[in-house]
Amino acid sequence: MGVDVWLDKNTAASASVRSDVEQHAASEDKPAPLLPEGLARLAKQVAVCQQCSLHESRTQTVFGIGNPDADWLVIGEAPGADEDRQGEPFVGRAGRLLNSMLLAMGLQREQVFIANILKCRPPDNRDPKPEEVLACESYLRQQIELIKPKIILAVGRIAAQNLLKLETPIGKMRGQRYQYPASELPVIVTYHPAYLLRSPREKRKVWEDLKFAMQTYKALV
Ligand code: URA
Repeated sequence: MGVDVWLDKNTAASASVRSDVEQHAASEDKPAPLLPEGLARLAKQVAVCQQCSLHESRTQTVFGIGNPDADWLVIGEAPGADEDRQGEPFVGRAGRLLNSMLLAMGLQREQVFIANILKCRPPDNRDPKPEEVLACESYLRQQIELIKPKIILAVGRIAAQNLLKLETPIGKMRGQRYQYPASELPVIVTYHPAYLLRSPREKRKVWEDLKFAMQTYKALV
């Protein structure tokens, strides 16, 4: 799975983008960027959270990472095994594909902020339970209030449905501009990169979604 498929004919050469992606993959040893006070305080609260039973099985919480002033907030489902081990969202195979998706949009991973609906790994990567989503909800809301992104990209059904409080199938959410509840913050939905790893034929649809997200963003700034 290369990144070429994400590239518009007019964007940067795929070779240089591929090398960027490889550098991201190799950058796991980089120190985590310092967070401003509000986010740092929230991250400390999250780190000791025991609001649901997931704290019993986690290695550590996964608060989120990226630019605290980001225009783009990417929201996924929950940490997996790699993320639970490293304390950073989207660091496994799906994370590398997410990096490629961002690069295709002209965004470096460090430019955006990446977080999840859940801050702890559900055992065996099962779907989050409603009570776990509820217990974690205020953390995500506070992250959104502190970062003040201009747009949210929700990746995957679980992220989209829980963020928007909808049960609409993800296929029907694509191509729509939603709003984060009780705000005017636009939310665009696309498939989860882990799904794309299993169903690479859907990449064209995701590229359409990413272009739609970029158009939506450009109309805002
Ligand atoms: N999948 C997600 O939704 N989030 C992660 O952080 C990793 C994999």
